[in-house]
Amino acid sequence: MSPPLRILGIETSCDETAASVVLRDEEGAGRILGDVVLSQLEEHSAYGGVVPEIAARAHVEALDTLIEEALLRAGVTLEEIDAIAATSGPGLIGGLIVGLMTGKAIARATGKPLYAVNHLEGHALTARLTDGLSFPYLMLLVSGGHTQLILVKGVGDYERWGTTIDDALGEAFDKTAKLLGLPYPGGPAVERAARTGNPERFDFPRPLVGDARLDFSFSGLKTAVRQAAQSLEPVKEQDIADICASFQRAIARTLKDRVGRGLKRFKADYASVDQPALVVAGGVAANQTLRATLQALCDAHGFRFIAPPLELCTDNAAMIAWAGAERLAAGLPADGLDVPPRSRWPLDTRAQALIGSGKRGAKA
Ligand code: KG4
Ligand code: ZN
Repeated sequence: MSPPLRILGIETSCDETAASVVLRDEEGAGRILGDVVLSQLEEHSAYGGVVPEIAARAHVEALDTLIEEALLRAGVTLEEIDAIAATSGPGLIGGLIVGLMTGKAIARATGKPLYAVNHLEGHALTARLTDGLSFPYLMLLVSGGHTQLILVKGVGDYERWGTTIDDALGEAFDKTAKLLGLPYPGGPAVERAARTGNPERFDFPRPLVGDARLDFSFSGLKTAVRQAAQSLEPVKEQDIADICASFQRAIARTLKDRVGRGLKRFKADYASVDQPALVVAGGVAANQTLRATLQALCDAHGFRFIAPPLELCTDNAAMIAWAGAERLAAGLPADGLDVPPRSRWPLDTRAQALIGSGKRGAKA
């Protein structure tokens, strides 16, 4: 039991500027009181990806107003906040500096504690905010910068079971879209095109399928897509649809194998957990084909499949506020005002960094 906590969260690690106020009640249940996200999609789309300098400037311009708006929607004043939680990594350093410095300034001015939150911890704990999930559980994070299978054992206690050894899954979608001439961000465009395509037409590779480790690899798939497109020049609309459908099928099969192995390992290691659960997070979790694959996989292995609402799967500040609330309630110490932003910050510090993984490194 801990008293009710109201936490202000700030998120600026990539191309979303976000602020939120979250309540954690005496029983440990969470409620979002006010939540605002400003996407910078328009600023970046002309460049086909996130431009760090543009992102940092846009965060500076928007953040103060967003924080005021989140407090207003929550009906809470800064004096009524119990702590401030700001993402301090991993991500684009310019954006992190903006959010963390703002968090520090508010903490200094109000005398409230500051929690410097790992963005990945925000994603990892979201299912406890939305579904009150108990530890331990498995999380698959599939975004533009990360593809990781993480064992969530407790607040601050994570084991990375698998990660990509090259491209993140969202990155594979974005690169595939780009080389097919589809708009940015690529994921939704590829999914749309795939609806009218034949998933059997191309037998794209499924790297690492059958491998005993739980890692992922997507760069070979992207190369195969390029070769298929080149062999069909000039590529017709139906070809694009068929390539997209076949690309998604290869990914679905890869996830089925990799994540399926993870579910088996969880069952073997945690046989006493009655209701094992897999949580999915990250922008790629929006993909209906991949969601259906993961749902079917969980059904087959007797797992609950938890996909938080999309606005909480993608980057937001409610998850950062919630991670701060969890840390505070667990009695973990607040951070000093000298805590630095970190562009790289693995959740599982014991896990070895894999060469080439998260090259883009910025997005989570
Ligand atoms: O989590 P997110 O919003 O941002 C970060 O990466 O931080 O994820 C964005 C990624 C992009 O690579 C985008 O193409 C991908 O998620 N994505 C999708 C879909 N919607 C977004 N990928 C596949 N299918 C989708 N429907
Ligand atoms: Zn993220």
